[in-house]
Amino acid sequence: MTRRRHIRIIATGGTIAGRGGSATSVEYTAAQLSADELVSMVSGLGDVADISCETLYALDSKDMGLKHWRALANLIRKRLSEKSIDGVVVTHGTDTLEETAWFLDLAGSWRKPVVIVGAMRASTALSADGPANLYQGVCVCAASTAAGRGVLVVMAGLVLSGWRAVKTSSEALTAFQVYPGGAVGQVIGNSVLFHQNSEAGPLSGRFADVVRSEQALPVIGIEYCAGSCGAVDSLRWPRGPGMGLVVAAFGSGGVPDALAESLSDYAASGASVVISSRVAGVLVMPETMTLIEKENVVAARYLNPQKAAALLSLILADGCSPQSTFEALYT
Ligand code: SIN
Repeated sequence: MTRRRHIRIIATGGTIAGRGGSATSVEYTAAQLSADELVSMVSGLGDVADISCETLYALDSKDMGLKHWRALANLIRKRLSEKSIDGVVVTHGTDTLEETAWFLDLAGSWRKPVVIVGAMRASTALSADGPANLYQGVCVCAASTAAGRGVLVVMAGLVLSGWRAVKTSSEALTAFQVYPGGAVGQVIGNSVLFHQNSEAGPLSGRFADVVRSEQALPVIGIEYCAGSCGAVDSLRWPRGPGMGLVVAAFGSGGVPDALAESLSDYAASGASVVISSRVAGVLVMPETMTLIEKENVVAARYLNPQKAAALLSLILADGCSPQSTFEALYT
């Protein structure tokens, strides 16, 4: 007889744990429910697996960042090292969920499933989506086919590779999509169907040591291009080796000449520059951007600005090469 799986739920806040004054108002406050309360709202969860839970944070995910992602990664590592735990489901606000999923992929080559779920509607809303998403996340986490696929995001019945998950809508229940690519699976009732191979990202676990260490993770600013953006005062960015900046450039990496000049000056200080794009379907290649790619001036490939910023922070903390790390993303 196979042992029932034991899934650990780690709550961090978000709309999934949000409460509003009425079932029909769009106003609510995120991060009001504990992990225990979230679990108690999902009937049938105990039929899928043995569940235990803990509340790590009660945060709106707009207030989360590098230090929270690092602590979460380290907690997941600890929980997964416990023999009795077969997988972890993280409940999370959707606003920075894509960055957390990406960071967790970079932070570990997880042998047991790690699944992230959120919700677009507060727990008190009519047709709140949190309970179904949590149920489906646990189904995926407990599935015998889930291990070895890297961090997974489960939202609105879709199973998405975490490292490529992106939030594409402020309101839709299907706000999360995969870019580039599509969902790797689906949940119907309590059945989990993977319909294509999915793998962890190409840099999966690459930064495990730095995440485990006490090494400071620099916060990376994002410079956003818009019509008339022209010249900027590059002196307001922290300069020098170990510093960095991401540019949300136009299209496939174009920046105005005046900005190109300030960025070159900034890079000459030893700081790193990653050129991403402000468009939703980002693809910036060395050949398509205004600046010339070199060791500390690199094209983001398919990474949007926020994911590029998380990666650049880990690169700078680790001391590895920005150019070869970004090259390794899509070869
Ligand atoms: C948050 O990100 O914590 C609030 C918004 C959401 O979860 O959808």
